[in-house]
Amino acid sequence: MGSIKVGVVGLNFGLEHVMALQANPRFEIVAICDIDQAKLDALRGDVNTTSGDAVWYQAERAERLARVRSRADRLRQTRLITSYHDFLAMPEVEAVILAVPVHLNAAFAERAVAAGKHVLAAKPFALTLEDGERLLAAVKASDRAFVLGFQFRYSPLFRRVRDVVDSGVLGDIRQLFWNMTRMPLRAAHNRRDLSGGPYLAECCHWFDLFDLMQPDSGVRFSRVAAFGGLDVPNTHVDFADNAVTIVEYESGVRASLNFTYFTNQPEYNVFGIQATDGKLRGDTEGAGHFVMWAGRTQDRFDFAADPTKAWQGHLGFDRNQDVFADAIESGDHEWAVREAERGLENLRICLAAERALDSGQVVHRDDVADLTVAS
Ligand SMILES: NC(=O)c1ccc[n+]([C@@H]2O[C@H](COP(=O)([O-])OP(=O)(O)OC[C@H]3O[C@@H](n4cnc5c(N)ncnc54)[C@H](O)[C@@H]3O)[C@@H](O)[C@H]2O)c1
Repeated sequence: MGSIKVGVVGLNFGLEHVMALQANPRFEIVAICDIDQAKLDALRGDVNTTSGDAVWYQAERAERLARVRSRADRLRQTRLITSYHDFLAMPEVEAVILAVPVHLNAAFAERAVAAGKHVLAAKPFALTLEDGERLLAAVKASDRAFVLGFQFRYSPLFRRVRDVVDSGVLGDIRQLFWNMTRMPLRAAHNRRDLSGGPYLAECCHWFDLFDLMQPDSGVRFSRVAAFGGLDVPNTHVDFADNAVTIVEYESGVRASLNFTYFTNQPEYNVFGIQATDGKLRGDTEGAGHFVMWAGRTQDRFDFAADPTKAWQGHLGFDRNQDVFADAIESGDHEWAVREAERGLENLRICLAAERALDSGQVVHRDDVADLTVAS
């Protein structure tokens, strides 16, 4: 098979996709779409765009743009286009990578799948169950590849964690935890109507990894409780800046997720597995580490991933494009459907956690049917 003709939509986080694709010989970038013409112009010219974002983000974005421009040879034949409708009408676009605002994720993915394109969709899967179920139906009805942007699961760190889970060396896995401490989200994500709140905007990644850390992938949750609040005054945020969340799965595994959005400290993600014959504790610093003890002799095993593979904290990001290429080349449609089903289950957990946090009540699986994100 020749290189896959791909198009990218959205040029903030999407610039990282462009960078990764420029370095990946399996893809040829045939089109880039953004509603903002200035962002498209900036790919080729030397205009510097400012987005009205925080200074740190503008600096990060300018660095990405400079790296994309330094490989301009890979964009010479690329069509730059403002209309998503016209982009989807391009027959030469075989595969689409989406990096649009969160509230457009599901609708844009559904349109791309319906137009016969392979899709690498951004997380979260959707903001409402209705949108999520429509997207799952669209994936089922097509024969195209579908991959979600939960890149952490493809990182060397979490590949190795998965190997540990598969080996059975820890015994019966009973408890999982994830503790995140970080600065507030960017303005584009820190209001519910834009991103759906903390679970959908970001913590969906950690729920995805709770799925990865259990022997059976695709496991369903049974109930969720959460306590939290907006404790540090910040007029730019309209949802909780910290919470303690507990999820119980149908597998019997229990998981706790603690997040704060008011402190930016090292080891901002610390996670673990507690099982009948051992335990594992890790963090995502650099490209990630973990330490594990197992067995009657409590043998210690240490793992550290190569720090040059950190991909600016988005561990596994470069692998996500290869997983997309693998999915396209394999033509394994059952895999695509399972991926969309996992996306929908992830959405359900996020919505249940949001409801639990708002109401102070335990939210059961059956309560999720009527859930939508409050605005
Ligand atoms: N996997 C990850 O770790 C990760 C990290 C960051 C963001 N994301 C996801 O990537 C997506 C984009 O995030 P972001 O931070 O770049 O969002 P953003 O809102 O900052 O940027 C969205 C981009 O899409 C463009 N856009 C808006 N409407 C459009 C339209 N109708 N047609 C074409 N382009 C349009 C905007 O001009 C902008 O360039 C989100 O869904 C987010 O969840 C994933």
